Amino acid sequence: MITKPTIYSSKAELIQAATDAIAGAIKNSVAERGTCYVALAGGRSPRDIYARLAISQSDQIPWRDVHLFWGDERAVPPDHPASNYGMARESLLRHIAIPDANVHRISGEMEPGIAASEYTEVIARTLPTSPPRLDLVLLGIGEDAHTASLFPGTDALDEQKEDVTAVFVEKLETWRITMTLQMLNRAREVIFLVSGKSKAGIVQLISRLKAPSKEYPATLIDPNHGDVRWMLDSEAARLIGT
Ligand code: 6PG
Repeated sequence: MITKPTIYSSKAELIQAATDAIAGAIKNSVAERGTCYVALAGGRSPRDIYARLAISQSDQIPWRDVHLFWGDERAVPPDHPASNYGMARESLLRHIAIPDANVHRISGEMEPGIAASEYTEVIARTLPTSPPRLDLVLLGIGEDAHTASLFPGTDALDEQKEDVTAVFVEKLETWRITMTLQMLNRAREVIFLVSGKSKAGIVQLISRLKAPSKEYPATLIDPNHGDVRWMLDSEAARLIGT
């Protein structure tokens, strides 16, 4: 259940390769369709990749034709240290010439249910397709195989109507707002970015699975008419095949 894994010998190599892959996907989308609609991943892993993206390709990426979304957000304001938007603002947004109108953060400071409904509307009115389809989705994976804020055992996994939902995560005792599986699986391309030895166990476990499982939500990411691939550093991938 690890489709198309590419393993890099170090985190530095993964960072550079991921930067190149993201820049390439954006440029291809803009060349083909005039725009690129991207959902950024949260958490810690992507931070260094966003920082590299901000400097290494910035002059070649047509940021004015890119719209940025988030696959999920914590129920916190944008200046809170846990904010996924805040992390991207510090590592990427403040360093690139992207129009403010093209940056669509989830309102983590609002009541989660309202924030989810509002974001559903933002997506629907910003993306040209109906149902709305992202060009590129970046995702991480937790040690419990959650991705975005689709955690095992939560009803967000069963949401079939909405593209964005609010979910209370018991184990974290906190609310999250997340794109749902139907939204994520509509994407043209999904890239999982996985680094560090703390992920080796979960990567090994899901690499052994023969079929997707709700116990491991990341395995449910399988774009209907799109592509999913995994980019891992050697520490995260070290137990694959064992
Ligand atoms: C979040 C992310 C989440 C993240 C994983 C991995 O809001 O935390 O959307 O799905 O990608 O938890 O996080 P790390 O990159 O910090 O290990």
